Amino acid sequence: MDHPELKGNVTLANHPLIEALLTDLRDRETPALRFREAVEALGHLLAYEAIRDAPLANETIQTPLETMDAPRMTQTITIVPILRAGLGLADGMLRLLPGAQVGHLGMARNEETLEPESYYEKLPTNVADSLVLVADPMLATGGSAVAAVQRLKELGCTQLKFVGVLAAPEGVKTLTAAHPDVPVIVAGIDRELNDNGYIVPGLGDAGDRYFGTM
Ligand code: PRP
Ligand code: URA
Repeated sequence: MDHPELKGNVTLANHPLIEALLTDLRDRETPALRFREAVEALGHLLAYEAIRDAPLANETIQTPLETMDAPRMTQTITIVPILRAGLGLADGMLRLLPGAQVGHLGMARNEETLEPESYYEKLPTNVADSLVLVADPMLATGGSAVAAVQRLKELGCTQLKFVGVLAAPEGVKTLTAAHPDVPVIVAGIDRELNDNGYIVPGLGDAGDRYFGTM
């Protein structure tokens, strides 16, 4: 499928593992346990893509044989899942980045207006000094992601990336138009949103499938 919205700051992370995991998520027969595993594995792989350009600084270390200068990652990273569905993705990301901080933003999409409603916020005090990876598996209208990034910018964050699993073209356009400075990394971009604001063909309600609240 052609993705005209794939320009500038948008990365479609493509790898056979990522595509196969996405198929597991899409398949309505996938049991909850496997759905959770696949979301978390995608978090791991997408975090790998998201920190591809992280800065490194050399440090002098001793190998068992001699002294050498070798690179270490120096940047503080904050993973910010958008509750609830972002939690599973964030768990997978944290497995790759065990030293990262975690902040939480609670947002629920009003199913009638499709507008995000903020209900919780807990962020590290130094969040503004860190690279912030906003995690939400679904980028549908883009309303939740735009609001989350807006809130983080209000708190002084300047280094932000959005990490998601599946996007609608509408969500990608809305997020990149509102925040052109924020790179977007996703595993798939689907055809469209349906009249209820669901991504199609999609994978259904990510939070409900992850937490078994169907
Ligand atoms: C889903 C999803 C996103 C949002 C995407 O969450 O996890 O946060 O919808 O839709 P948008 O791009 O149109 O804003 P939801 O509000 O259903 O809450 P949940 O995570 O608790 O299931
Ligand atoms: N939220 C979801 O969980 N799924 C969609 O398709 C759209 C929003």
